[in-house]
Amino acid sequence: MQPDKRTQTILDGFDANFEGKATHLAIAPGRVNLIGEHTDYNDGFVLPVALDRDVRVLFRPRDDNQVRLYALEFDSWADFSLGNSERNKKQLWPNYVQGVGLELAALGIQLQGFEGIVSGNVPRGSGLSSSAALEIAAAKAFLTAANQIHALTGPQLARAAQKAENEFVGVNCGIMDQFISTLGEDGHALLIDCRTLGYRRVPFPEGVSLVIGNTKASRSLAGSAYNERRAQCEDGVRRLKEVLPGIGALRDVSRAELEAHRSLLSHTVYRRCRHVISENDRVQTTVAALEQDDFEEAGRLMDASHASLRDDYEVSSEALDKMVESMRSHPGCLGARLTGAGFGGCAVALVRAGAEKDVRETVQESYARAMNLWPEIYISAPSSGARVLPL
Ligand code: GLA
Repeated sequence: MQPDKRTQTILDGFDANFEGKATHLAIAPGRVNLIGEHTDYNDGFVLPVALDRDVRVLFRPRDDNQVRLYALEFDSWADFSLGNSERNKKQLWPNYVQGVGLELAALGIQLQGFEGIVSGNVPRGSGLSSSAALEIAAAKAFLTAANQIHALTGPQLARAAQKAENEFVGVNCGIMDQFISTLGEDGHALLIDCRTLGYRRVPFPEGVSLVIGNTKASRSLAGSAYNERRAQCEDGVRRLKEVLPGIGALRDVSRAELEAHRSLLSHTVYRRCRHVISENDRVQTTVAALEQDDFEEAGRLMDASHASLRDDYEVSSEALDKMVESMRSHPGCLGARLTGAGFGGCAVALVRAGAEKDVRETVQESYARAMNLWPEIYISAPSSGARVLPL
């Protein structure tokens, strides 16, 4: 079969940098979250889809313990031995690969070195999970090279990659991004229970499409403010536990319970908890709305999610608000919200099928005018999760 243009570029990259041929291509997608934001680390529910943009690792096993990779877009090499737990201080990207290797080894998997090319077209630093895609593509390469592709279930693999990001890279993310990159399904969103790691495929209805708007605004606050939000949720749980000893996370608290014990919380922590608790409900209601083709209701819930993230959770930004506003200004848009951690990055709109291109034009023009920044707009159908193709 003739490779597509992108795969051909990666194959050419391999030929230019290695002797002989690669044996496998690992592919792992980025994601966009439809609804359920900042709920994953509260043991809650999320509803992401995998994108048709991905990170690829074209590789072949080595018969030693070395991993040697060349990243096309960064024009940079990474070279490390399995078991090496020293972070790469000069470049960030190899740490995602190295961290995943360490986690897999810690699970008792006997790894083998491999070498090849890394290449991605998930916009970086934009809240579409390019990091998780790199981790999962690397995990698939590690497992394939070691002849252990079935050693872990999808949820176990996602958990290992999340742990690598938490502990080796040092980003305290939840499980959502790695999970959807691993287990996403063509034409479906996944309803994920981030406590049990159980999940259900939700068919993405034919009458609607997704339009993603990249604000191109910087996300400098993202790391510290993300950790601060997590700490505020933990504080909320600690205080609510005094009167609700059975709870383990905000997932276990109802809206009525939160209101009844509001006085135990600072105003800020109360609002953070209110976002998480109401967002968990919105995820469930959105699934029901999509299953009944009630697109107006799904759109309304996305709008409500944005308002809650902006006002209660305070993770929006001027650029994200303008992006959402530009999206909603088109009559084909049913609802829109920031997606991912927030503070910049992307918003996602649910639009009527057929209106995608019009919405894109409207947004390009009105967002650029409002922010003096040229956005990028992606139209993506829900796509498949990670896979490995033998060559
Ligand atoms: C980032 C994290 C996810 C999740 C979202 C917010 O994308 O990586 O785990 O917490 O933010 O929903």
